[in-house]
Amino acid sequence: MVTAVKRRVAILISGRGSNMAALITAAKAPAFPAEITVVISNKPDAAGLAKAKENNVATLVIDSAPFGKDRTAFEAALQAALDQHGIELICLGGFMRLLTTEFVERWAGKMLNIHPSLLPSFRGLDPHGQALRAGVKVSGATVHFVTPEMDAGPIVMQGAVAVRDDDTPDTLAERVLRLEHRIYPDALRLVASGGTRIDKDVCRTAATGSPDDTLISPETI
Ligand code: GAR
Repeated sequence: MVTAVKRRVAILISGRGSNMAALITAAKAPAFPAEITVVISNKPDAAGLAKAKENNVATLVIDSAPFGKDRTAFEAALQAALDQHGIELICLGGFMRLLTTEFVERWAGKMLNIHPSLLPSFRGLDPHGQALRAGVKVSGATVHFVTPEMDAGPIVMQGAVAVRDDDTPDTLAERVLRLEHRIYPDALRLVASGGTRIDKDVCRTAATGSPDDTLISPETI
């Protein structure tokens, strides 16, 4: 049996790491084209670190606090750790530190992020509150390649949920998060297996949509 070489992935976190856990679980499948080589947190108390250890994934803390505003020095330490682990792809999973243009460009086409809205709508903080205030009837989550602008970059995959009339930011967040845990592993599988191509600002893929390509909300019958 020929075993394909798996792409070596680092997940960067700052907090609870539920997307990280979904990626780790998916990557355990023998046929998954990537392995989670290391989880790196910029916060020593990130809850996700314990979850990664439980799953026997190597963890590393590079505390960003002592670096203050010196992003370049923090990223030099980060880059050294990525080099040491032979990392080929980065997945940001609730990583709450802005990255410099230089670092982002160095990882162009090799760094993914997930954001809980249908980008380009509702970037930044409180996306669910923004969605509810706008009165959208469909929201969701987006996996995209990272570019220097925050919550922007070629879109790899999106998943949508219906927004209910009685939704609060918390209830919507919960439904979208369940979807995040499905699409992030699927998007990583697609990228790691070479199923995407970046064409200027657009990510092209041979993958198709859902069986009937529709989601209508609210349904009136
Ligand atoms: C997730 O909902 C992710 O989409 C969001 O942070 C949360 C992290 O949760 N990311 C952003 O808002 C990026 N702008 P997790 O630590 O449980 O994966």
